[in-house]
Amino acid sequence: MRIAILTSGGDAPGMNAAVRAFTVVGLRRGHEVLGVRDGYAGLLARNLETLTRESTERLTRQGGTLLGSSRCLEMMREEGQARALASLAELGIEGLCVVGGNGSLTGAHVLAPRTACKIVGLPASIDNDVGHAGLAIGVDTAVNTIVEACDRISDTARAHRRAFVVEVMGRNCGFLAMRAGLAAEADAILYGESHATEEATFAHLREVLRRCFVERSDKKRALIVKSEGCPISAHAIRDHLQAYLDEDAPGVDVRETVLGHIVRGGSPTALDRTIALRLGFSAVMALEAGITDTMLAWEPPFQVGAETMDPSVRRVPIGEALEETSKLLDGTSTLIRRRIELLRFVDDCLPG
Ligand code: F6P
Repeated sequence: MRIAILTSGGDAPGMNAAVRAFTVVGLRRGHEVLGVRDGYAGLLARNLETLTRESTERLTRQGGTLLGSSRCLEMMREEGQARALASLAELGIEGLCVVGGNGSLTGAHVLAPRTACKIVGLPASIDNDVGHAGLAIGVDTAVNTIVEACDRISDTARAHRRAFVVEVMGRNCGFLAMRAGLAAEADAILYGESHATEEATFAHLREVLRRCFVERSDKKRALIVKSEGCPISAHAIRDHLQAYLDEDAPGVDVRETVLGHIVRGGSPTALDRTIALRLGFSAVMALEAGITDTMLAWEPPFQVGAETMDPSVRRVPIGEALEETSKLLDGTSTLIRRRIELLRFVDDCLPG
């Protein structure tokens, strides 16, 4: 087969590892493997290159994406989709693997029923906001980066007995803040999915700071990890908390740090490499089997000998994944409800 791979949307550590596995496995299985440059934009412009073992060597350890990425607005319109379909047909591409988040998978889902080319998707987004993805490619690295940053911030915070508000990426999904916040021993974690009012958030944080700095004299730092999905800015939180502390614990200062794109870069962790390599492998096998409009998802090992050769990789129709994504984001998914319920329970154990 002539098969191709593209990386699209916000880059995520491990995208390169997926490209490497797709190439090496594809070539060993006798396929011709192409890389599409700059996501869907490269497909529209027919900007492709042949991938080889040599050109993808040492890629597994590299962050970002060698192929380049884009958020291709044209793909959201019929005209762009028609051009993508024409490219697939005219370039003779028989199988396409799309590595990206919700927007990228939506593109794959729109194209798949309208082409003879088989299309599979691999969830890759540091936000972990793709429905049924388990752990998307890039999440583990991002969590580790945040934890390391919080640990460093905690060192300096302890030296001055300060409170810190650290904002992390995640768009509308609080997963990164939740997972990294717990691992970094945060005293409070803020995320949009709680839909807490500003008033309730500030009241909660004042109480957290009291428990840290008024009830205890030996507590050296307070750490508040805030997801970017929480609608109050880190700066506004800092200002409010400083005013509270000036009354409740004079002399204790608050600082804010927005980690931003630092969270998206870096060499992927071993877990992200593992997930990406194994999903890349399963993508080739799925295309060979004629599977289309399907996402490969990383899950804890389930029944050996199920639909893929790999017990940790599951096939999910992309439509189902996107439906679950909407529920994750509007808070109606069982998974997100349970996550929030658990965190609400844990919330009270965090400060102090
Ligand atoms: O989706 C990944 C992500 O990093 C989000 O966490 C963030 O909100 C967004 O992308 C930033 O996008 P950009 O790099 O286009 O500013």
